[in-house]
This record gives sequence, structure tokens and C-alpha cells, in this order.
Amino acid sequence: MVKICCIGAGYVGGPTMAVIALKCPDIEVVVVDISSPRIAGWNSDRLPIYEPGLDDVVKQCRGRNLSFSTEVHRHVGDADIVFVSVNTPTKTCGLGAGKAADLTYWESAARMIADVSVSDKIVVEKSTVPVKTAEAIEKILAHNGRGFSYQILSNPEFLAEGTAIRDLLSPDRVLVGGRRDTAAGSAAVDLLAGVYARWVPQDRIITTNLWSAELSKLAANAFLAQRISSVNAVSALCEATGADIAEVAHSVGKDARIGSRFLSASVGFGGSCFQKDILNLVYICECYGLPEVASYWREVIRINDYQKSRFVNRVVSSMFNTVAGKKVAVLGFAFKKDTGDTRETPAIDVCKGLLGDKAVVSIYDPQVAGEQVARDLAMNKFDWDHPRHLQPLEQLSATDLEKQVAVAADAYEAAKDAHAVCILTEWDEFRGLDYRRMFQGMQKPAFVFDGRNVVEVAKLREIGFVVYSIGKPLDDWLKDMPAVA
Ligand code: NAI
Repeated sequence: MVKICCIGAGYVGGPTMAVIALKCPDIEVVVVDISSPRIAGWNSDRLPIYEPGLDDVVKQCRGRNLSFSTEVHRHVGDADIVFVSVNTPTKTCGLGAGKAADLTYWESAARMIADVSVSDKIVVEKSTVPVKTAEAIEKILAHNGRGFSYQILSNPEFLAEGTAIRDLLSPDRVLVGGRRDTAAGSAAVDLLAGVYARWVPQDRIITTNLWSAELSKLAANAFLAQRISSVNAVSALCEATGADIAEVAHSVGKDARIGSRFLSASVGFGGSCFQKDILNLVYICECYGLPEVASYWREVIRINDYQKSRFVNRVVSSMFNTVAGKKVAVLGFAFKKDTGDTRETPAIDVCKGLLGDKAVVSIYDPQVAGEQVARDLAMNKFDWDHPRHLQPLEQLSATDLEKQVAVAADAYEAAKDAHAVCILTEWDEFRGLDYRRMFQGMQKPAFVFDGRNVVEVAKLREIGFVVYSIGKPLDDWLKDMPAVA
């Protein structure tokens, strides 16, 4: 029986391995992590991450050919294929701080593989890493190994949180990069491609050289984020001219060369990947002496920051230029629907902006716990990737935070006595709320600022709300307010 061990039981390692175990009952799959609470979660009825369909897949395989363990050394030691799916955040200090990928976890995983191996291995890069990481890993393994042979493959993951199981069961493509110019490299590529071929059609399995695979992941995320920043840039122009972003995006997306997906205007993208991977790409371009290419991609992040601060400014300027002491309901804190993940969520920056203007914020999200909200809002932001006005909370004490932030049990509680509602995540339940009931319990004039374009603007205006919806024609109230900087 082939044994697969995955280092890192996170948003990628957990679901990916669960689906491999589901589709390959003859392969033993063990997911290991240094975090014992995380492993305990995977072994319980309450999985550590929320992902539609995940519970069911885990239930089918756990105890059969899927297990979760903290015994990292033992399982890595005798596995045939080791996936490395550890976190690769942006460096926060030293060379490349604020841009380069922090490969500390990666390097320590590679050194550990070398230390504990008792057999030859295929080592698979599942984490998103800078181009040429495989070369560094090869060197670490060659210089520290104990005579075993290692083949390094790049198999970046393209799943999106919220649709991870669907994406894994039916991926657009699976990418396997390796040293196909050598017999051993080629055999390793075929072996891994063969695992996916159990359920993925052959024409969706792409094999490439190592560097193409590594770079394709960074490039794919940069292109996706660029689409969001492009439509968000146009949304600002829509508001200024009276055009409607929904109509513009629909017309643009009908062009088969452009396509309709990923063209929804919003308060901005978030998640653990887009910003970090673009920054990483920017840094790589700079290192290779390509400053123009670096600044091209950096602009995608700038527009994203602009979109968040533009939203905050719109809220404040619409409400007579101050939100001090006013209750503002925030609906949605996760970076998108169907996940409880709040890493880099635009809600953090928007809340910080509102709190900086002394608003009292009441937050409701169906999947984000109050402690997570508190942790996120207390966290410091890097100076280099956020405009200064998005960081006022750093000056707030814990007591201020406690006074100004509350977490509500539902949308109605959040909106009770509020002056405004801000929708920051596109959860389906926000489309079907009883906005009339909400309106009745709010201060007047009652505002809705829809950062995800989920509400029916005309209906809400009929109820009596002043409504702002990104990229949509402004109502008279908002038109009369001073221009948004
Ligand atoms: P995560 O932070 O949820 O999980 C990483 C896990 O690795 C953590 O549980 C951590 O305790 C563990 N870990 C770190 N060092 C370890 C070590 N030496 N031994 C054992 N365990 C160790 O991260 P996530 O979101 O799963 O991302 C992993 C990688 O996949 C990143 O490179 C990310 O860029 C990439 N990726 C993430 C996607 C996403 O949607 N989250 C999608 C595609 C790729």
C-alpha cells in the first residue's frame, strides 16, 4: 500500500487529503501537524475549518484510510509521498519584509524530512511558494539526507475556500511539475499524476517543468486578483458617472474572450492568498531586475486598498461626515461566503476605518466567532501595504476596543438601534433578510452600505433606507454629500 503523508492540516492540507483518501481507498493518507488543537479538531465532530461538504468526506474516510496525527516524524519517516502544505505567509521582518514569502515553516519541514526519512521519497510542494523553491529544497535534502533519494514535485493547489470540495472533486486542472528530463523525475511525475487520474480526466492533468508549475500558481492568483481590482476600479467610475457596474460587467463579460466569472464589484478581495502571492510575485520581479513588471502587479493591491478606504469614506461622508458614537451594524466578517476564514478579510480594514472615526460597531457573521473578530481587530497591520488612514485602531486600547466593538447573535440584533448597516460578506442569508423589520428598529435616516451588491436597491429605497451599493447609481442623498477622496 502506498502511503501519503501531508505536513500541514490547514485549509489546503485537510480537504485535499480527505478527497485523495476518498478517491483512492487503497492509499493510506495521514495528515500531520505540529498544532495539537488543529489535529484534535480534525479527529472530532467539529472540524477546525468550515467548508461545505467537507464533513461528509471526512466521515466517509476517517478511520478507514485517512487519519490525522501529531506524530509528525513517524509518519513522514516512512511515507512514500510527502506533501508539504504548511503556511507560507509574507515576511514581516528582515530582507524582503512585507513582500517576500516567509519560508521558515517550509524550510523546517524540508529539514525535518531529511532528518527522519527511513526510505526514498517523493516530496510534493503543495504550498504556494516562490519560483525556484524546489531547487532550494533539493539542496537541503541533498546536504542533510541520509543517503535516500528524493524527487521534488510542484503540485500547487487551485481550490478556492468555500468551494474546496467541489473544486477538488472536479478541478479545472491539476498541475504537476517535475524534472521530466530525468528518468526518476519523470517516473515521479507519472506516479502523482496517476493518483489524480483516479478521478480527474486526463485532459485536465497538466504536467510541466518545475518552474512553470511554481510560477503558474502565483500568476493564476495575480490574474484573478487583477480581475477584481479591474472591476472595482471601474465601479468607482460608475459611481462618478451614473453608469451601473452590474450592467457594465455583464456587457463586458459577454465577450467570450473576457468571460463573465469573477467580475462582481465588491468592497475588495481578501483571503490568505491573493495579497500575499502578488506581493511575492512583486518581490520576485524586483529580485530579477524587473521593476516595471513589479509595479504593474503592485497596482492590483493598491486598487484593493483604495476600494476599502473608498468604502469607509463613503460611509462616513454620507452620515454627515462623522460616525462618532453611532452604532454601525457590520454584516459579514469572513473574507467571502461559505468560509469562516478571516485572514486578510476586507472587513478588518473597514471596521478599523469606522472605529478610527469612533463608531460603535456591532458585527454579525454566521461562521466567525467573537474571539476571532477580537483577535483580528487587535492585530497590527504592516505599514508598507496599507495606507495610514486604515490603521487608526493601533492607537486604540483594549478597553476602547471593548467599548466600541460588539458581536451580535444575528443580523437583527446587530442592526437594532443602528444608524447604518454595512454588508461586507456576500452570505446568502443577507439576501433574504427582512429589511423592513430591520428598518423599523433603526435610527433614522437609516443607511445600508452594501459592499457586496447583495441587496435589491430599489426595494430597500422603497422601505425608506438611504442605500449605497458599490458601482451603482447613487441616490440623491449620496449625490449631495461631499466627493469621496
Ligand atoms: P494554514 O495556515 O491553514 O495551514 C498550515 C498548517 O501547517 C498549520 O496548521 C500549521 O500548524 C502547519 N505547520 C506549519 N509548519 C509545520 C511543520 N513544520 N510541521 C507540521 N505542521 C506544520 O494554511 P493553508 O491556508 O492551508 O495554506 C497552506 C499553503 O497552501 C499556503 O502556501 C497557501 O498559500 C497555499 N494555498 C492556500 C489556499 C487557501 O485557499 N487557503 C489555496 C491554495 C493554496
